[in-house]
Amino acid sequence: MKILSIETSCDETAVSIVEAEGGLVEPHFRVLGNALFSQVALHKEYGGVVPMLAKREHEKNLPILLKKVLEEAGVSDSAPGVDMIAVTSGPGLEPALWVGIEFAIALGKQWSVPVIPVNHMEGHITSVLMDISGDTNTKEEVGNENKEEKNKIQFPALAVLISGGHTEIVSVENWGRYNILGQTRDDAEGEAFDKVARLLGLPYPGGPEISRLAAIAREENLPHIATLPRPMLHSQDLDFSFSGLKTAVLYYIRDTFKDQSLTDIDKKDIAREFEDAVVDVLMHKTKQALNEVGAETLIVAGGVIANKKLRESFTALTYEYTGLIVKVPTKDMATDNSLMIACAGYVQVTLHPDLLMHPPEKIIAQGNLKL
Ligand code: KG4
Ligand code: ZN
Repeated sequence: MKILSIETSCDETAVSIVEAEGGLVEPHFRVLGNALFSQVALHKEYGGVVPMLAKREHEKNLPILLKKVLEEAGVSDSAPGVDMIAVTSGPGLEPALWVGIEFAIALGKQWSVPVIPVNHMEGHITSVLMDISGDTNTKEEVGNENKEEKNKIQFPALAVLISGGHTEIVSVENWGRYNILGQTRDDAEGEAFDKVARLLGLPYPGGPEISRLAAIAREENLPHIATLPRPMLHSQDLDFSFSGLKTAVLYYIRDTFKDQSLTDIDKKDIAREFEDAVVDVLMHKTKQALNEVGAETLIVAGGVIANKKLRESFTALTYEYTGLIVKVPTKDMATDNSLMIACAGYVQVTLHPDLLMHPPEKIIAQGNLKL
């Protein structure tokens, strides 16, 4: 079946057309058209995402991206032959979500196709079904024989979702059956990277900047001066608190440097210690969850997985847990995109085929939608 998918939950506007088949046992996806516009440069000057600015940009960009993917897929805009439209209905910024939903509903009416609402977090989890390596802006066939083994996901699985908006550990009993085992009690992990970067005078988004400085500190073998706590490391549960870590950085800078400004060496040292603290806590909780669930597959998603140290740490788990399948998506698939929304839409209609005949009459944006 052909799926048009739309994502506007935060600061990425994305539209794609995907051909999906094979059900949940052997899913095959072919990207017919895919377009994404990141607003990060616009929000940069405000030091974070501004919801009303995001809404305006989505409104401006959706028709442009739609035109692009229809052309790329070689289909007409009046009858593109899609079987359903999948659109993110939450969680996310409500003004931004509404833009995508209203756009999807209008297209659904125009083309007489069902519109299926999708949970953005289910999108992140199911993104591993579409194991694309390389640039998602190019057409690629996925799920061919060579990749079949690589694409296999065994249940129970565990999903670790880490981005600027979320930090969640989710047990995945099977597709469509999710249970949140732990989450952050305050800031999301990416948010902590961004806030600490600001304390160090680094630009938004701060994650890549911090990991760059941390890598230099390791390469140059700079002395370890800064020490930071590992919040909730031994809390027994699977929750996180990153706001305390950010405050610890604030106090460390205030108490150590008083009125002096930080040198580049100080910044590199703090960046490395902060990254080490985050990685220590995340890996500790992931292992605890893997043991609790007895997981056969570990799925990691969200923009923070672009972090090299985290990628290496997650990948290295296969040595510690024999037989564990670790799915760490490429950066393009891990950050917000619309291909993952097509995946989640496909999972939903495969689990509930009735949805295609009887789609929800009303779709509403739900900023706090739970899995
Ligand atoms: O998933 P994403 O693109 O957007 C959402 O938040 O939904 O994630 C963006 C977050 C930002 O907080 C950014 O600082 C963080 O991911 N990030 C990183 C790295 N690259 C991006 N954090 C740590 N290390 C990185 N290399
Ligand atoms: Zn996301």
